[in-house]
Amino acid sequence: MTSKFTFFFLLFFNIAFSQNSLPLIPQPKTMQIKDGNFSLKKETLIVADEDSFEAQYLQKAIQQQTGLQLKIVTASKADSKIILKQMHPIDPYWSKERYNISISPKELIITASFNQGAFAAIQTLLQLIPLDKKETFVLPCLNIHDEPKYTWRGMHLDCARHFFSVDFVKKYIDYLAMYKFNTFHWHLTDDQGWRIEIKQYPKLTEVGAWRNGSMIGHYNEQRYDDKRYGGFYTQDQIKEVVAYAQQRHITVVPEIEMPGHAVAALAAYPQYSCTGGPFEVGKQWGVLDDVFCPKEETFTFLENILTEVIALFPSQYIHIGGDECPKIRWKNCPHCQNLMKTERLNDEHELQSYFIQRIEKFVNAKGRKIIGWDEILEGGLAPNAAVMSWRGTEGGIAAAKQKHYVVMSPGSHCYFDHYQGDPKNEPLAFGGYTPVEKVYSFNPTPKELSTEEAKYILGAQANVWTEYIETPKHVEYMIFPRMMALSEVLWGTSNPEKYADFQNRMIQHFSILDKKAINYSRAIFEVTAEVMPKPGGKGVLYLLKTNQSPIGINYTTDGAQPTNQSKVYSQPLEIAKSQTIKAIYFEKGTAKSNITEQQFHIHKATSCLVSLQNQPNGNYTKGGGFTLVDGIKGDKAKFGQHWLGFSGTDLIATIDLGNKQKINRMEIGLLSSPSSWIYFPKKITFWVSEDLMKFEEVKTFSLEEIQKCNGQITVDCDKKNIQFVKVTVENFGTIPDGQPGAGNKAWLFADEITVE
Ligand code: ACM
Ligand code: ZN
Repeated sequence: MTSKFTFFFLLFFNIAFSQNSLPLIPQPKTMQIKDGNFSLKKETLIVADEDSFEAQYLQKAIQQQTGLQLKIVTASKADSKIILKQMHPIDPYWSKERYNISISPKELIITASFNQGAFAAIQTLLQLIPLDKKETFVLPCLNIHDEPKYTWRGMHLDCARHFFSVDFVKKYIDYLAMYKFNTFHWHLTDDQGWRIEIKQYPKLTEVGAWRNGSMIGHYNEQRYDDKRYGGFYTQDQIKEVVAYAQQRHITVVPEIEMPGHAVAALAAYPQYSCTGGPFEVGKQWGVLDDVFCPKEETFTFLENILTEVIALFPSQYIHIGGDECPKIRWKNCPHCQNLMKTERLNDEHELQSYFIQRIEKFVNAKGRKIIGWDEILEGGLAPNAAVMSWRGTEGGIAAAKQKHYVVMSPGSHCYFDHYQGDPKNEPLAFGGYTPVEKVYSFNPTPKELSTEEAKYILGAQANVWTEYIETPKHVEYMIFPRMMALSEVLWGTSNPEKYADFQNRMIQHFSILDKKAINYSRAIFEVTAEVMPKPGGKGVLYLLKTNQSPIGINYTTDGAQPTNQSKVYSQPLEIAKSQTIKAIYFEKGTAKSNITEQQFHIHKATSCLVSLQNQPNGNYTKGGGFTLVDGIKGDKAKFGQHWLGFSGTDLIATIDLGNKQKINRMEIGLLSSPSSWIYFPKKITFWVSEDLMKFEEVKTFSLEEIQKCNGQITVDCDKKNIQFVKVTVENFGTIPDGQPGAGNKAWLFADEITVE
């Protein structure tokens, strides 16, 4: 269907049935579609103050979108007008971003009290006009009354791990504007690069903006190139970006990381570290041990930097980082230990809190506020600080209960550096699995908060960390379409129960992205699969579906590439022997998805009953014990699915084979990914039993042995009359110093216990 046809089809559909849906994202708060049409044509006039940025923006956008060149006039009696009306005097009951659009046959009236509202209205209007070069566009008559729920509707971009040009940063700001985001969190400094010119400290960019190599492949592979890489923004460029965003009513919040993620700065000025260096700008992703030392000179240095930053960015909040600060240097630093004594600080967390509180005092004295990642709660929150909750929503809940403002950005729903489709079909990503439907299900206001506490939730934002994202096209791919889902969540009109309605609108926006040559993930068209135990028999059932419909899937069982002539999927497949299933979704004979490919290893324990002594945690519980015997081995490179995860606890699994039989071999897969806090276990033991009363130990493997075979542990044996197999896997425990997440509980990830 062409977009034009879709539009009229929907229009007809709406008038006939729902009266309440056009492909708008975010969906407005209220909208009534009425009879009649407004014709947008070259004679249509824009009636507004001539110097209005909003009117000029609208004029230019309509011209780019349709080719129509509308005139801006201050008054007119003409028959076809778009009127930008500002209420005078400004109505105090109207929030800044509130607007109305009223479309009648001769007039399209935008009403707002503030330019922010008019700008939001223009974004809505631009979504009502197809991207097409035509003489006349027919818009439905309607009334829209709209305003957002949350005041912080953010997107973040990490320009430290990879550098993005001013041109792309402006494009990124345009994308935010399209979907009514109002906050751009600009991550400007990190271990791997310092990206903002600071006049008083030129070495920050002369030295700190350049590294002599980067990681290639995933962190866990520990491979590097030796290419010099870098870049930075001059203060003039920063001003240009801030002004560009400001015109679009987007606040740029700069992030200057401290006390951790500071190695690029320390490479330039090693005197502000604990050891004195020397350091080189980080080549390795993750968390590096060298951090700012809380000396007087360091505070002077950071305050001088912040003075320049504050002069460049008019935002109310300055983000000071605060996350992932290893304490190992402070523990071994005489200055730090002495300072802890004189300031009566009980531990290094309190030293971190002391650090942040000093910086807060300085920033507050300049009339601004600090926001930091949720680690700033540890050791005591600075009195006026806002918290950005990334390690789940718990930090945000704790902060709101302490009457501190909160921006929610939990890894589970808001990390757009995670996979959004089957990792096999996606570019290399950090890890995790955050499909668009999951983003859409997010509620930034946790149920744990009272109405009073909930007022401290400013909103949410998605984070785009760029360790694995080097190009603008790749950034686009990671944010689209997920930022559409987040935009509706933040506008306050999302309804996870009506995801299908959202998805329908989102797919219509794909044609907008196509026409604007914006890259996006088509993962929603992917064939998704679920595996289930096969009742009363060996093997499993394999269920295929797409987000579109259950129709249109073709598959093969012999490893061949599916075509639209391959077997047609109609019911769950019975997988009784080891084989590979490949499936593709076809629409009118054209492949709409990549291949979904699944290898099955069917063995003696497949679909057998598994009892778990401890339950798995978080996102890694799906399928429960069955996951361990579902015939699918967890993929070592990609750990979004098919693994059971245990945070801090052991895996103790007992499998009932159903009857007594001979066992020749047992196997289990384990994962190590320290960057994601996942560690091989300390120890693993295989046991067998005839009757569940008495277990015989077959073999125990130490951590060294587990590491040696990279987590794929096999034991050959010759045991007869065995009905029960038990595997005990001892969690690594606490993440050691010097590693990402040091001091937190390690995850244990296990999958497929094979018995042959
Ligand atoms: C973070 O992702 N380290 C805030
Ligand atoms: Zn120190």
